[in-house]
This record gives sequence, structure tokens and C-alpha cells, in this order.
Amino acid sequence: MTKLTEAEAARLHPETLALSYGFDPWLSEGSVKPPVFLTSTFAFKHAADGKQFFAWAHGEGKLPPRREMGLIYSRINNPNLEIFEDRVALWEGMKDAYSFSSGMAAIATTLLATHSPGDEMIVCAPVYGGTDAFVHHFLKRLGITAHFVPAGVAAPDLAAPLITPRTRSIFIESPANPNNRLTDIGRMKELALRHAPAAPGRSCGRILVMVDNTMAGPVFAQPAKVGADIVLYSATKFIGGHSDVVGGVALANDDALLGAIAQHRALLGGMPNPYTAWLLTRSLETLKLRAEQQQRNAQLIAAFLVSHPKVRQVCYIGLLTPDDPEYAIYRKQHTGPGSLISFYIRGGEKEAFAFLDSLKVFRLAVSLGSTESLAQHPAAMTHSGLTPEDKLLGGITDDLVRLSIGIENHEDLIWDLTQALDRV
Ligand SMILES: Cc1ncc(COP(=O)(O)O)c(C=O)c1O
Repeated sequence: MTKLTEAEAARLHPETLALSYGFDPWLSEGSVKPPVFLTSTFAFKHAADGKQFFAWAHGEGKLPPRREMGLIYSRINNPNLEIFEDRVALWEGMKDAYSFSSGMAAIATTLLATHSPGDEMIVCAPVYGGTDAFVHHFLKRLGITAHFVPAGVAAPDLAAPLITPRTRSIFIESPANPNNRLTDIGRMKELALRHAPAAPGRSCGRILVMVDNTMAGPVFAQPAKVGADIVLYSATKFIGGHSDVVGGVALANDDALLGAIAQHRALLGGMPNPYTAWLLTRSLETLKLRAEQQQRNAQLIAAFLVSHPKVRQVCYIGLLTPDDPEYAIYRKQHTGPGSLISFYIRGGEKEAFAFLDSLKVFRLAVSLGSTESLAQHPAAMTHSGLTPEDKLLGGITDDLVRLSIGIENHEDLIWDLTQALDRV
């Protein structure tokens, strides 16, 4: 067996490289799969090596490629984290990634690494409840102010008048959680650069476009390709994909941004443990297979729901048609509609709960992107902490149900939805 050169690796697809990239079996007794490096600390061959590795970790001198910087201590670096980070960066086509112990750790650490007191943000609502609470309560206490605009086609026009010399970021979830509204990332990037152009040698300006791509997942959308400076993930969802691990990722192309994220991760200690990173690496091997099967099921289920008399409206980007204003965004930003469906049931909370309580194959649980199908009630569960105004802005009403479609047989899922809707 011979090693791939970097040029050869660059020709291969992420689903191929997900099985081998960044791991040399001959450094681990020929083991085909990476072992779990369950160690908190790494031995230096010489004291001078330790001195050099620490200097690099502090950003001193001419830095070598990140993977050659020397292993120090598992809060700073660890082979399992690095293998996962290398492979997840390939899916995005981005320069580098940092892994975290949860999606919230990735989001919170990245926001703290990039904002200072007095800064302002523009947030496309709705965002995940935890992100919303972090921005509304935690960042507000630090003197960081967020202005909210509704996600969707009009978001860049609504954001434009809110930009001030203090604006530091535009935070987008596209598709938005849970209403699946799409926001044009490229137009937001144009807006950011129009107000604060990038300095020579930098890939981003003062206003950072940050995209939480958890809902689409890396198989069907790569936000950096259309202008995102930072891409964030709850790896708990499609990347982990089995509802058995909690993790997060932050990716960027700009060295200064990557350095700030790395430094804040080391300071705040939000890295995953080696076994979590190992599980996430294992899951990347089947990411495409799972995502495609989930998407196939979701397309059939969306078509079923749309004509069901007890369903008022279905929000699924696979149902967008060319005359829909969001369709052009979908074509630009996505290669497939994915597997998250929200729908408004006829009635209110009572009918929604009756439906949820009657499901037999779907699990009544929050989260998304896993092999098993899940159903939940955003207004009472994931988004219950939002203010009534923000719920309204995001279309999160008592009749809204969110489905995350898994890999089961689609006929069984449709049977389950039919019998549960019959009981409403
Ligand atoms: C869109 C989105 N972003 C971030 C998160 C937070 O991720 P985690 O639960 O891994 O901290 C979630 C969790 O549901 C989410 O749905």
C-alpha cells in the first residue's frame, strides 16, 4: 500500500476520502481504522521540541502546516480530533475545521472568538433555540447587540438599513429551523463587503457572514462556496447521524479567523473528547449514504403530506417550484432538499399533540438528522424559549410539527403518519 499524494487526494471525492484521509496505518501498528488516542498529554522527544510546539501553539514565529505543529495536550490537539477535522473540512471544501463537544460549544466559542463588547450582529430569525438564548441573554450581557430580521428572500433588504460601523456579523441558518425558509447567503456576503471590504490578503471583511448549516448538512449544501466566512454545525445531527453522540464543528478559510477559533477553544475548553471525535469520524464514512436515503424518504413523505386533508401547509424545500421566490436560492445553495419537513396540522396544539402521541414508528423526540425518524413540536419544545414576537417572526405556531426523516422503509413511515393523522 502506498500513500496518496496531496495532489491525488485533491482529485478524490469526500465520500472516498472519508474512509482513509489523514490517517497513516503505519503510525498505529497497521491498524486500518484509527485507534482512539485516549491520552490527555503527549510525550516530547526533546525539551526543545516542547518549547517549539508551545511557541507555535501561541502563534509565534513562522507557523508550519497545522498538522505538523506537534501534539501537546488533548485540550489543544489530539489525533482523533485532527482526523475528524481534516475529513469534515473536505466535505465543505474549506481550509480547516475545529471540532467541539457540542454544536452550542462551536457556536458560542466562535461568537466569543469573533465579537467584542459594543459589536452588533444581524440574526436571521428563527435560529435554533439555544443560539437564540445565547445571543439574547449571554451576548447581550457582554454588550453585544443583535438585530433580528426574518429569514427568507427579503432578509438582505431588511438587513441593509440595520448595518452600522459596529456591525460585526450576519448570522444565518439556511434552511431556517424549523420553518425551512431560505436566505440568500451570497447577497448577504455582498452586503457585508459593500459596507466593509476585505483588507488585502484577507478572505473576509469586518462583517463576517456566519452560517449554521446543521439543517441542510454538508452533503447537500456547502455555504462557503456561496460566500460564508464561517460555517457551523451541530455534528450531533447529520454528521453524527445515529443519535448517539453530541458534537460540533466550526470551519473557516481565513487563517486569522481559524487562529482565533483555535485559541478560544483552547481557553474555554470546548473540544470533544477523543472517543467522541472517533465516533464522528466513523459516522462520516456513511454520511452520504444516510443523507441520500433520508432525502429519498423525505421527498415521498412530503408528497404524501401535501395532499392530506388534515395538513394545512407543508414546509419542505423539495416542494419549491420555479415560481416561488425562494426557488432561485435553493438552486444556488443546495444540491438536494434534504430530509427535514415541517408542517402545519389543521387545528392547534391539541391536534398536534394528538398526532405526536399516536406515532408508533417515528420517535417523539427533539434533534434531527439521525437514522431514525423523529417528530417534535417546536413551539412547546425546541423553540419554547423564544419570545412570542420571535415565535411569530419564525412562523412557530401551536399547529406546527417538525419531522426529521430517517432511513427506514418509506412505506412504513407513511403508514405511521397515516394512522397517527387518523387519530387527530
Ligand atoms: C440548527 C441547530 N444548530 C445548533 C444546535 C445545537 O447543537 P447541539 O445540541 O449539538 O449543541 C442545534 C440543536 O438542535 C440545531 O438544531
